[in-house]
Amino acid sequence: MIVCVCRRVSDREIARHARAGMSFDDIQFELGVAAQCGQCEGCARDIVAQCCATAPVAALRAATRAEVATWPGSSA
Ligand code: FES
Repeated sequence: MIVCVCRRVSDREIARHARAGMSFDDIQFELGVAAQCGQCEGCARDIVAQCCATAPVAALRAATRAEVATWPGSSA
């Protein structure tokens, strides 16, 4: 779905950049989202927030057992 009509930026593109660790400001600079009329800013920020909320889980899944064993409070 196109989120930013002015710059023709999709939700997938925003999510992909957010999952790569970029902040909303980084994504705005990179893609130009919400940089023209600004109508898409709320929706774009929501997408970034949703992706950031799931990122720690992805990081946990990607961590190796040896890494987890070194975390404070870990009994692995
Ligand atoms: S719709 Fe995104 S800046 Fe206009």
